[in-house]
Amino acid sequence: AADIADDLTDVLVTEEQIAAKLEELAAQVAHDYEGKDLLLVGVLKGAVMVMADFSRALPMLVPIDWMAVSSYGTGTRSSGVVQIRKDLDTDLHGKHVLIIEDIIDSGLTLSWLLENFASRGAASVEVLALLRKPDAMKVHVECRYVGFDIPSDFVVGYGLDYAEKYRNLRDVAVLAPHVYS
Ligand code: PRP
Ligand code: MN
Ligand code: MG
Repeated sequence: AADIADDLTDVLVTEEQIAAKLEELAAQVAHDYEGKDLLLVGVLKGAVMVMADFSRALPMLVPIDWMAVSSYGTGTRSSGVVQIRKDLDTDLHGKHVLIIEDIIDSGLTLSWLLENFASRGAASVEVLALLRKPDAMKVHVECRYVGFDIPSDFVVGYGLDYAEKYRNLRDVAVLAPHVYS
């Protein structure tokens, strides 16, 4: 089999760095939402790993729901056209919603989601994103909890894919240009 390492250049964020950061963010979230009706909403599919590790780092019980949207399809660039593939099962009325994302790239997915959730009667809507690309953002998105700001390289792993591949890598790594060019 071809070596996965041939498809990657640098490891950008290691499994250990991710775990430590999520512990840190979980402590902040536990403090900020004390006594509040918190609901975690993960954005499928990229946020699966972040949700699994972040939610278990929280020191309290919390309900989890999922939204499946896609703006990338199989390409490398956001189209800005967001499609709902699976809607929430939960009524957001009165809930303090924390959206869990793997990455904010152009910001188009989240800005669309924030607008969508705002109309559903949530008490508050905030965002936790493991990764953010400040130089790639096309729209401003208020993100209360950010793991790491990274350069605008195409990154994969820990939930992030290229054409549905690489999601199950433990680290976040830069995809070698020869893979997608
Ligand atoms: C990726 C990523 C974020 C979004 C960020 O999802 O997981 O959800 O793109 O990009 P943006 O800020 O430019 O909108 P994708 O649409 O690829 O679906 P996936 O999570 O199933 O991979
Ligand atoms: Mn996604
Ligand atoms: Mg994707």
